[in-house]
Amino acid sequence: MPKKKIIIANWKMNLIEAETVLLVKELIKELGDSPEKVDVVLCPSFIPLDEVSKLLEGTNIKLGAQDIFWETRGTYTGEISPRMLQEWNCEYVIVGHSERRQNFKETDEMVNKKVIAAVENDLIPIICVGETKAERKAGKKKSVVKKQLLAALKNVKLDRAKEIIIAYEPVWVIGTGKPVKPEDAEEMHVMVRGLLDKLYTPALRDKYFRIIYGGSVDSKSASDFFKQELIDGSLVGGASLLVNEFVGIVKAAANY
Ligand code: 13P
Repeated sequence: MPKKKIIIANWKMNLIEAETVLLVKELIKELGDSPEKVDVVLCPSFIPLDEVSKLLEGTNIKLGAQDIFWETRGTYTGEISPRMLQEWNCEYVIVGHSERRQNFKETDEMVNKKVIAAVENDLIPIICVGETKAERKAGKKKSVVKKQLLAALKNVKLDRAKEIIIAYEPVWVIGTGKPVKPEDAEEMHVMVRGLLDKLYTPALRDKYFRIIYGGSVDSKSASDFFKQELIDGSLVGGASLLVNEFVGIVKAAANY
């Protein structure tokens, strides 16, 4: 049975607090208090989390963060702990985004520690995996994603998890305005699903996981992705900064 779709906005480092608040208010107005047919998650940067959390109170729109550190407390200047995210009522957290892997040298091991920290602290990790253009050209797209996924899920106790979201984001299409072909994404989703089935069981995969696509999705392309049976939603960057675009994507998801 197809799963309820989940649409996640990743606003990256684009908005100051005042702009974030405006955008959230617009989205609440447009989406209503309860996007019932679709799960909607907003991931602002850290600073406005507290403010956004208050704005989302009483709505069905959920809050997520863009990153997490794996220690609970201590001498880690500049980091944000799971406890801090909980205090801001975050339910989701993006982990291992390609921009962090590339720009901040996050390794598979670090991503794994973050996933474990999220799960142990009742946060739902949104684990990003995806190949670069060079890796794809070298015919390694599946092996790269497989390696990232196996590393990210190592020693994760599923029975502690509320849910785990896997976001397939081919690195080379992010921010280009040109997504991969929906069938291309679906092919990777088949691989990811098969891997999870082997790692756990089809029943556990079904119980704990949703697998989504990210990379230049907009309101025009959204339906083509959501039509694919195995694509459970989308992690949206650029288009999530525009009210009409993001609302269009959520509405497209509500049709499937
Ligand atoms: P774009 O939608 O801007 O391509 O970004 C995708 C992404 O990186 C979401 O995490």
